[in-house]
Amino acid sequence: MKNIYLCGFMGCGKTTIARVLGQRLALPSYDLDQLIVEQYRMTIPQMFARGEAFFRQAETQVLQATGSTLGVYATGGGILTQAENGPILRKLGTLVFLDTPFDLCYERIQGDENRPNAVSRTKEELLSLYRSREAAYRRWSHLSVPEAGTPEQVADAVLQKLLSAAE
Ligand code: S3P
Repeated sequence: MKNIYLCGFMGCGKTTIARVLGQRLALPSYDLDQLIVEQYRMTIPQMFARGEAFFRQAETQVLQATGSTLGVYATGGGILTQAENGPILRKLGTLVFLDTPFDLCYERIQGDENRPNAVSRTKEELLSLYRSREAAYRRWSHLSVPEAGTPEQVADAVLQKLLSAAE
């Protein structure tokens, strides 16, 4: 079995769904941002204060290291802005796009000071960021799942798609 990676916009529910999916599969679940914070001993805003490129380098490095630990991983919403990360994700596991409507993401992320790429933008700017990233989520993911229902229902929908893809 390979790792499972969830991708999608900030606030799409990756961390919650990764946790439920991990429980269903009896696998550990991880949040890539959390792993970065632990490894670098800095908060995400502190890393962005050094420049987004600094954070992105750390993100790719920590992503590469996930190859040695089987689990379900929630990735950061900007992971596919780096050209090298799509192929890495596909090589290390199955990539699942959590397709959540913008308004729902926005409700969850607005004003979140822990998300420098959200707090620095207006709603219109975030919508255009969402639109600009959507194609990459679809292009690189093996599967996409709409975020409809409870976390348990969404995790079950992911599981079903994973099982049918494996047939
Ligand atoms: C980012 C999303 C964040 C985190 C960082 C940058 C982005 O993760 O990686 O703040 O550029 O979309 P979440 O998607 O978990 O909020």
